[in-house]
Order: sequence, then C-alpha cells, then structure tokens
Amino acid sequence: MKKKILIGLGVVLVLAQFLPRNKNISTVVGEQDISKVATIPADVEDILKKTCYDCHSNNTVYPWYAVIQPTRIWMDHHVKEGKQHLNFSEFASYTEKKAKHKLDEIIESQEEGWMPLTSYTLIHKNAKLTDKEQSTIIEWAKQVKEAYPSN
Ligand code: HEC
Repeated sequence: MKKKILIGLGVVLVLAQFLPRNKNISTVVGEQDISKVATIPADVEDILKKTCYDCHSNNTVYPWYAVIQPTRIWMDHHVKEGKQHLNFSEFASYTEKKAKHKLDEIIESQEEGWMPLTSYTLIHKNAKLTDKEQSTIIEWAKQVKEAYPSN
C-alpha cells in the first residue's frame, strides 16, 4: 500500500515537471518602474536586486533547482504573492497614498527584520541584510517617501 502511494507521488511529480510555466523574467525597465518616481542610488539598487527583486519585481533570477518540482510550484507561489503585495517594477502605477504606505511597510520590514522571508535567506545566504544594509534601505525609503511626487 505504502509503496503504491509513493509510486503515485513520484508519477505526479514527474508529470508536474511538464506543467506549462511562465517565467517571471523581464529585463527591460518599464515605464512603471520605481526608478521613474524615486532616486535609487547604486548601493540601494544593489541591495534591492540582491535581496528583494526575486519576489518583488518582474525579473526573478532563477537558480538551477527552480526547474525541479515541487520547488517550482513553491517558488512561483512566492513570486506571485510577493508581487501582489509589492512590485518594484510597477511601483510608479501606485497611487501616492498606496506608494507611501508601501514605503512605510518597507521601513517596517527592515526595522523588524521580517523580509526577505526566512525560507529564502536559508538558501540565499547573501540575501540576508546586514545591519548596515538594513539602515541603508530604511534611510532611502524615508527619503523617497519625503520627496514622493504628488498625484
Ligand atoms: C522569497 C520571496 C521574497 C523575497 C526575497 C522578499 N519578499 Fe517581501 N514578501 C514576500 C511575500 C510572499 C509577501 C506577502 C506575504 C507576507 O507578508 O508574508 C511579502 C510581503 C512584503 C511586504 C508587505 C507588503 C504589504 O503591503 O503587505 C513588504 C514591505 C516586503 N515584502 C518587503 C520586502 C523587501 C524590502 C525585501 C528585500 C529586502 C523583500 N520583501 C524580499 C516575498 C518575498
């Protein structure tokens, strides 16, 4: 009985390998990118790209194991959910109120240290922000909020 269940699971995983997939990859900087409404110094951009963009932008850098199920489903789910909450590639499409709220959340996420997700930093060791990187992001988000263009 147990063996049958295991074989069944194996078959499902192999079949799941063939599910169609739309990868979240877009290397062009679109009109709605955050850079259109905020100044992003090079050090801030490096941190965001390295630690946030895999889930909060239209451009994920997929590791090799991302093609293997069930990792793939799990990862795609994080990207989808992450983008729904915050998408740096579409930030300029947010209303001023929403944008400022997201900036507050970004500040909070670094003050309280709940981003990136632990499940992510366990694998991407260099995505865990140092204290200095956290303060860089906090200071930057505060400045962007201050100077945010009204709409
Ligand atoms: C592995 C994917 C992943 C990475 C990497 C990641 N996030 Fe997230 N983030 C999520 C998911 C999923 C959610 C929504 C669910 C939740 O809050 O746990 C979220 C939610 C958020 C929210 C809350 C937005 C809202 O309005 O509710 C903020 C702010 C945020 N992330 C900031 C960041 C920042 C800043 C970084 C980089 C330092 C980052 N995240 C890295 C997946 C990720």
